[in-house]
Amino acid sequence: MADLLKCKPLDMLMHEASETGEHSLKRALGPVNLITLGIGAIIGAGIFVLTGSAAAKYAGPAIVLSFVLSGIACVFAGLCYAEFASLIPIAGSAYTYGYATLGELFAWIIGWDLILEYAFGAATVASGWSGYLLSFLEDFGIRIPPRLTLAPSEKLVFYGGHWEHLERIKDTLATQHINPNTLPTETGLFNLVALLAIVGVTTLLVIGIKESANFNSGIVIVKLAIVVMFIVIAGLFALKHPALVAANWHPFIPPNDTGAFGHYGWSGIARAASVIFFAYIGFDAVSTAAQEANNPQKDMPMGILGSLVICTVLYILVSGLLTGIVPYGDLNVSDPVAVGIDATGVGWAKILVKLGAIFGLATVMLVMLLGQSRVFYSMSRDGLLPEWAGAVHPRFRTPWISTLLVGGFVAVFAALIPIEILGELVSIGTLLAFVIVCFGVWILRVRRPELHRPFKTPMVPLVPILGILVSLGLMASLPLGTWIRLIVWLIIGMVIYFTYSRRHSRVQKLVPDKVGVAGD
Ligand code: ALA
Repeated sequence: MADLLKCKPLDMLMHEASETGEHSLKRALGPVNLITLGIGAIIGAGIFVLTGSAAAKYAGPAIVLSFVLSGIACVFAGLCYAEFASLIPIAGSAYTYGYATLGELFAWIIGWDLILEYAFGAATVASGWSGYLLSFLEDFGIRIPPRLTLAPSEKLVFYGGHWEHLERIKDTLATQHINPNTLPTETGLFNLVALLAIVGVTTLLVIGIKESANFNSGIVIVKLAIVVMFIVIAGLFALKHPALVAANWHPFIPPNDTGAFGHYGWSGIARAASVIFFAYIGFDAVSTAAQEANNPQKDMPMGILGSLVICTVLYILVSGLLTGIVPYGDLNVSDPVAVGIDATGVGWAKILVKLGAIFGLATVMLVMLLGQSRVFYSMSRDGLLPEWAGAVHPRFRTPWISTLLVGGFVAVFAALIPIEILGELVSIGTLLAFVIVCFGVWILRVRRPELHRPFKTPMVPLVPILGILVSLGLMASLPLGTWIRLIVWLIIGMVIYFTYSRRHSRVQKLVPDKVGVAGD
């Protein structure tokens, strides 16, 4: 048992962090790159797609409170990530922190779990991206065959001059007494558009970290500009129409008339918080770039917390304005922010919002895939995955084999698995990572209080404990099917660990007195 809880020595980690040369990652990222990397990963399908349905179905205008609640949960976890990322600036993020504090078995579990966050996260966003692209092209009369834009068995119906996702407009059709069987229908074959998006992003990632970061920074500016544009246009409109806003915001917390959990009222706010949690995922991906940061001790906390705070403020403003200018019941659409702009009567801005979403979601995929390949890189260097997974390209200086491999798998997932299943798996996987990271910060404070921590999480253990409790609370509100998928996924991981990784682990081969054991 002690073997399973062997920790990777911090000295070994610090040594790896200081490596240079053609087979190491390139230190090329400054604080602005890191904050934009975070924003690149955070603002995406969550705000552009999920906000509308979460407001319409669960929280009403109180979606603003859901964003506050989810944001608080992320700030607790973000503070813990910041402490680790400045202390152990290695590419593996939560995986590495787990290895240093809780031992190899936990490190493996978290590394395996991070695949759910990053790889499945990229696949989820690719699905959402294809929806926006389709809607944008349709505005110009260009139609991609709908069968090539959906996972198998998903259905589209032709309604209101557009192909709409059946699941999404089922309620609208029901209120208008329209039988979906009477509408033209298409069933998905595979999502070619999502597949091509992942192929494009993967290619960029292989070519170089600096190129990827520059592409990301450029687009993040566009994405931020679009979000700010929405806030300004909607804000001015709201100021001119205070009576409309007051009417749409009344009642701010719609009453839960049915008694069912999550259907408006306070439980609706909680349910919506667990859905829109997806919108915050990504700030932690900054920590996977720690080995590529010029000055990780100082810049990592700035990248993680800076991007999180900026996005939290933007989300609260966007969701508040959106529900102020559009009745929340009308927001269950695939492009709620575009619908919001439409309501202000500023027609040209709608195209910009769609374009912003298309480019914006591309950077989310980029950072997620970047994160995934860096976690594999770290796991391979520790011997838990085969050596080729950590091979760095001598010219591009990127972990090209793992990037290609991850890209290949993600492209297939994105093409074949429906977005809802992917999205819930991403949330549960990320929340589990948060729990382990918060726990790790607390444990390391107890076991190694003397370590120099360039950034310290305030009020330990209170903040980590709150981070753990809120994350577990959000996990508990996810459906049983998601829990079952998580457990199956972890069992598959255990089989790989015991048949391959444990035998090849570098830490297991170290002389015993050099290795700490969790709980010592
Ligand atoms: N936060 C990211 C998004 O909303 C994952 O797309």
